[in-house]
Amino acid sequence: MAISLMPLPYAKDALEPRISSKTLELHHGAHHKAYVDKANAAIEGTDLANENLNRIVIAAKQKGDQGLFNNAAQTWNHGFYWHSLSPEQTAPSAELAQAIERDFGSQDDLIEKLKDEGTKHFGSGWAWLVQDGSALKVISTHDAETPITGAANPLLTVDVWEHAYYLDVQNRRPEYLSNVIGGMLNWTFASENFARGSAWQYPG
Ligand code: FE2
Repeated sequence: MAISLMPLPYAKDALEPRISSKTLELHHGAHHKAYVDKANAAIEGTDLANENLNRIVIAAKQKGDQGLFNNAAQTWNHGFYWHSLSPEQTAPSAELAQAIERDFGSQDDLIEKLKDEGTKHFGSGWAWLVQDGSALKVISTHDAETPITGAANPLLTVDVWEHAYYLDVQNRRPEYLSNVIGGMLNWTFASENFARGSAWQYPG
C-alpha cells in the first residue's frame, strides 16, 4: 500500500485571497507530492511498505532513518495542515472552547500566541496547537519534526516553511500568519482531534 498524495479538502482557489491558488498548486502538487514520492521510494521493498503513514513516521524516528523520517513526516504534516485550514468560518466545540479559555484566557489570546510562536520560529518548521496530557499548548517544531512521535496530540498546525507563503507575501511571514491564523483555522477539525484524544490518521 503506497502512501497517497491526499487530495486537498477544498478547491485550489478556495483560500484566496489569503492563500493564492498558485501557492496551493505548487505547495500541494509539487512540494507535498515530492515528499510522498520520496517516502514511497524509501519504503519500497522494506518491512514498512504496507504500514500506514502514522506508523511509518514513528518507525523511521525510532530507527534513526532521517531520510525516510523527513519525507514521511513532511507528508503527514502537510496532510494535517490542509485540514487545519478552512475556507469557511468555523468555531471550536464547547469542550474545546472551555479548554482554550482555561489554558490561554481566550481564543484571541491563543491566536496571538500561535502567531507569535510562528513569527519567532527560526528557519523552516511548523507552529502547532497541541493537547499535551490534560493541557493545551502552543509549540513549534523544526524542519519535518512532528508531535506524533511524542506524547502530544496535535490539534492544528501552520506551515512556516517559506514555500507556504513566499509567492503571496514574499518574506513577510507575520502577514501570512495573520492572514491564516486570524481568519481561516479549521476549528471543527481541531475539535474532532481534541474529542478523539489521539493523533489524526493520514488517509490511505
Ligand atoms: Fe509546506
